[in-house]
Amino acid sequence: MTSKTSVITIDGPAGVGKTTLARRLAETLDISYLDTGAMFRTLALRLGLEAETMNEDAIANACAQYHFHLKGHGERTQLFVNEQLVGSEIRTEEVGMLASRLARIAPLRKALADMQRKLAETQPLVAEGRDMGTVIFPNARFKFFLDASPEVRALRRMRDAENHDRPTDLAKLTEQIRLRDVQDRTRAIAPLKAADDAICIDTSDKDIDQVLGLMLRHIDASGGSALFR
Ligand code: C5P
Repeated sequence: MTSKTSVITIDGPAGVGKTTLARRLAETLDISYLDTGAMFRTLALRLGLEAETMNEDAIANACAQYHFHLKGHGERTQLFVNEQLVGSEIRTEEVGMLASRLARIAPLRKALADMQRKLAETQPLVAEGRDMGTVIFPNARFKFFLDASPEVRALRRMRDAENHDRPTDLAKLTEQIRLRDVQDRTRAIAPLKAADDAICIDTSDKDIDQVLGLMLRHIDASGGSALFR
């Protein structure tokens, strides 16, 4: 039997609450979390749309210029790119959409996949994204897949944007989320889907604390919390 890696994966579509839950779960277990969407967003912002027209070698070389590392634990986990803190500049829906377009490029995914696995070699992690349980960490100790309707997710994103003083149009946001869902679920490489052995949770009618409670109960029931402490 293949041994399990000390990783908890959380996958799911845009706006479902993965980052908040990864942060809270990491805090409870006192380990770090890895927001892999932030890695795609950072490369999207730095490489721009031109990346779509680069040949394989050029994109691989461009990606090789960027190195990610983590500092801190739990809610204080910080992601750095080339020693610079990744900040809120990546958090717009436009950057999310650009990231989703570039996420279809095989050499870019390969560069990030290598970095994601390397980060997990040196520390236990909660890793969140789209292909954590299916492709990057197939032997993860625990796998969760979160889902909710596009309307619910858009509403959550809108409230979040408003809290950060970025007023957003709900209808436009719902449309952007639907579009990104299609792009992420139907792409040829590493499409968004639940791993066969993932615990699937519909979060539409649950708040963060309720979902976190379900995850922790599952981890505890399998003796998992002790493994991460
Ligand atoms: O999760 P977030 O919205 O920050 O991700 C931005 C985009 O990056 C996603 O829409 C998806 O296309 C891409 N992504 C991915 N694989 C991951 C994480 C994010 O393809 N593991």
